[in-house]
Formats: sequence, C-alpha cells, structure tokens
Amino acid sequence: MNDPTRFELDARAREMLEEMGVRVWWPLPEVSTAAAATPAVAPVQPATDAPAAQQAPALSAPPVSSRASMARAAQSEAVAPVVSNAQTAGPVPQVSSLDWAALELAVQQCQACGLCHSRKHTVFGVGDEQAKWMVIGEAPGENEDLQGQPFVGQAGKLLDNMLRAIGLDRQATGPSGVYIANTLKCRPPGNRNPESHELDTCAPYLVRQVQLVKPQIIVAMGRFAVQSLLQTTEPIGKLRGRVHHFQGVPVVVTYHPAYLLRNPADKAKAWADLCLAVQTQQGLPAA
Ligand code: URA
Repeated sequence: MNDPTRFELDARAREMLEEMGVRVWWPLPEVSTAAAATPAVAPVQPATDAPAAQQAPALSAPPVSSRASMARAAQSEAVAPVVSNAQTAGPVPQVSSLDWAALELAVQQCQACGLCHSRKHTVFGVGDEQAKWMVIGEAPGENEDLQGQPFVGQAGKLLDNMLRAIGLDRQATGPSGVYIANTLKCRPPGNRNPESHELDTCAPYLVRQVQLVKPQIIVAMGRFAVQSLLQTTEPIGKLRGRVHHFQGVPVVVTYHPAYLLRNPADKAKAWADLCLAVQTQQGLPAA
C-alpha cells in the first residue's frame, strides 16, 4: 500500500512519462471504477529480480577531497576554501551570510579555480528560490555555458520531462516550483569530469544555495552531485532506493539525465527514484 510508485497521475504526467520512456500500464482512473476505488498501481516498467547494485553501472569514486568537500563547506560556515594551485586566479569570498543577489554576484565574479578562464558564463541556478524541491546536477555543459542556465541541452529536456511527470516545472512557483543548481558553477572544458579541487572550491556556493532555498527534498543527480553531497564512494546503484540526508534535508539519489539518455533502460529506475522523492516530500511512510 505504501509503494512509493503508487500515486495518481494525470494525463499530462502520463504523457511526460511516455516521453521519458517509462511505460504506464495501469488503466486511467476515469475508465476504471476499480482504479477509482483502489490506490494507483505502480507505474514502473518491469522490475528485474537482480538487486539494484548488480543492475547499476559501475561508477568509480571521486577523490576523497571532493567527497568531503560539501561536508567541510557546510561545517565551516560555508567559507569557500582558497585553492592553491597554478590555475587559481583568486580566492572565493565568504558566502555563508550572503543573500541571493550577493551570492549570485559572487559566483559571477568567482576566479577561484582555473575554470574561470575558459567559461563563457557562470551557471548559478534557476527556479523558485523558495521551492520545496531542489534538484542538484553536476556541471554546466556547452549549452549551459553559452546560455548561463542549467540543464538547457538534451539532458535538460529530459530533466524537464521527468520533473513534469511529478508535477514540477522550473518556471513555476509555489507547489509546482523547483530550484535547479549544479555542483560546479562553471563548465569544465570539453565537458571533462570535474576535478576534486574544483568540487572543493565550488562547494560553498551550493551549500549556501541549499541554505537559502531550504528545500524539503533534494534530488541529487549523477555521480559528482551525489558523492559530493553524501561523502560516499558508493556507486549510485547502491545509494538509490533509500533516503539520505544533507544538512538535515532528505536527499534522494538518482541517475543523471545525460546517463539516462545513453542508458534508457534505467529510466524506470529513475522514475522509481522520483516516486520515492515524492513520497518522502509528502511525508508518506516508506514502502
Ligand atoms: N548536466 C548537469 O549536470 N548540469 C547541467 O546544467 C547540464 C548538464
């Protein structure tokens, strides 16, 4: 009865799920009196018998310094570390007391790591600054760097569909609102993986964003977002399916939309993760 994938879906959510590639196989409530009388049935496509860890792709762990970065940033009042390496152009300011405008300006002006030299735009975040939901991705790609907005490429389209499937919209405020941010605010050249010192350096900005949004739920997408927030080397396949916490905020882990574009068979698992997040945010008991 408490299966996290059991909740009502309207026609729009069904459309979005179909676009995600998640097959919805139970009847519409209006065409089934039985459905109206009983809880919605799990929408997720065929579960396999193998444990998630066996199904999940192997993801290698980031360096320890990056895994610890979010916790260190949170514990140190979100004072950004000064990075000493040849590419560092200047220190990050203290951000723990900044409001939204000052924080965004600090990001725009940031020269604390080498990424500032190759970026076209910083990518701060988008959405309802008081949203109950926060989605955290990894780093801007080429399109995001050009436009200064997170998740505007193909992965962003999939993300928008995933969010719409659970009634969220990056342009909405109120109950449908969501705030979207990345772990890194600048694009790694050539879309390479973030380096540990870049994650360390940028972490205080994200910590402050979480403090300002005060979300009821965080959905962490992808290896670097997940492992930085949760300080763990566990692969996503082992972390998903249960609720974690960051600074007291529940965190649900899932695959990155770009990964899902390459591995569409895992979209059903991502849907199950979103359902767990909905259930957690709504304060429903665990399945
Ligand atoms: N991938 C991310 O993690 N973030 C973006 O903004 C775009 C792609």
